[in-house]
Amino acid sequence: MTAVATSNTVILGIETSCDETAAALVLGGNDVLSSVVSSQIDIHARFGGVVPEVASRAHLESVIPVVQEAVRTAGIDPSRIDGVAATVGPGLIGALLVGVSTAKALALVWDKPFIGVNHMEAHLYAGLLDDPTLQFPLVVLLVSGGHTMLVEMVDHGTYRMLGRTIDDAAGEAYDKVARYLDLGYPGGPAIDAAAQKGNPEAINFPRAMMHDGLNFSFSGLKTSVINHVRKNPEVSNIDVAASFQAAVVDVLVAKAIMAAQQVGATGVVLGGGVAANSRLRTQLQSQGEINGLRVAVPSPEMCTDNAAMIAAAGWYRLGSDGPTAMSAGANPNLALPVIS
Ligand code: KG4
Ligand code: ZN
Repeated sequence: MTAVATSNTVILGIETSCDETAAALVLGGNDVLSSVVSSQIDIHARFGGVVPEVASRAHLESVIPVVQEAVRTAGIDPSRIDGVAATVGPGLIGALLVGVSTAKALALVWDKPFIGVNHMEAHLYAGLLDDPTLQFPLVVLLVSGGHTMLVEMVDHGTYRMLGRTIDDAAGEAYDKVARYLDLGYPGGPAIDAAAQKGNPEAINFPRAMMHDGLNFSFSGLKTSVINHVRKNPEVSNIDVAASFQAAVVDVLVAKAIMAAQQVGATGVVLGGGVAANSRLRTQLQSQGEINGLRVAVPSPEMCTDNAAMIAAAGWYRLGSDGPTAMSAGANPNLALPVIS
């Protein structure tokens, strides 16, 4: 069994931590041969959020066809696969177990290494996958449904936590506000679309902790939106959506730029589902330009959950740590390994 990661090493990545069943083949840590994502959004939409038990069952149904599709579209024989990586956490335990068990079974059958991957570390690698010319140190703004954090990527495998949300994640705020405004699920894209038609300056929502370090807070903003709509029932949804979005993006962009300046980063990389947000993408790019910082905005497919990032992070982990023990389980609360 080989345990080295070379430019010729092909890793199969499997991602099942939440509501996307994904598989991908990546060569040499950054050449994406195939990437297949089967979203469960339609299945969960009628519940207004991800139902863990429903997610696990849907992963069970999709995981083998998704892996088969990834191998087929990569156009290589399965015998070319050198290792199988899967997300071991954080995420929903029942959902994680589907991907971990599948990856271990394939690794055993093929007699190849199994590599357990931290989902948050994989999100950091998504930006590098899109643009391998990026140089460390980098600041990654990771904004998803469950996380909002500013991480310094000092080097491969070496991360420093610069700031994080003290309450709701940015995506969670989007989802909650969209539900309150009856805009649909998932809330991020729904607010993003509504905001295109509204006035971002219509309502001056608070920019929480704007001048108070690199941590974030979004739960007060969500309450402000609810209070404003209650007091002004005639207000237009599109103006509320646009003004809410402007408040979220102002804080995210200001702190990402501040973080990059503080640590002397070569640039800022966006990651996580909220990185698909149109205003966040354009504002970060223009503020980066004004401040002389390189800004990497990966494709929306790389920002949201996918397995190419799992295979890429798995390739680096295989090279640095070797295979993961078959006895290692899934951990729903797995933290990003950081230095102080
Ligand atoms: O990273 P992700 O796919 O899943 C995890 O949370 O791990 O992120 C999903 C989050 C959801 O909260 C969704 O509403 C948000 O990303 N999102 C967006 C947009 N597209 C997805 N938020 C704002 N604007 C968008 N265009
Ligand atoms: Zn994610």
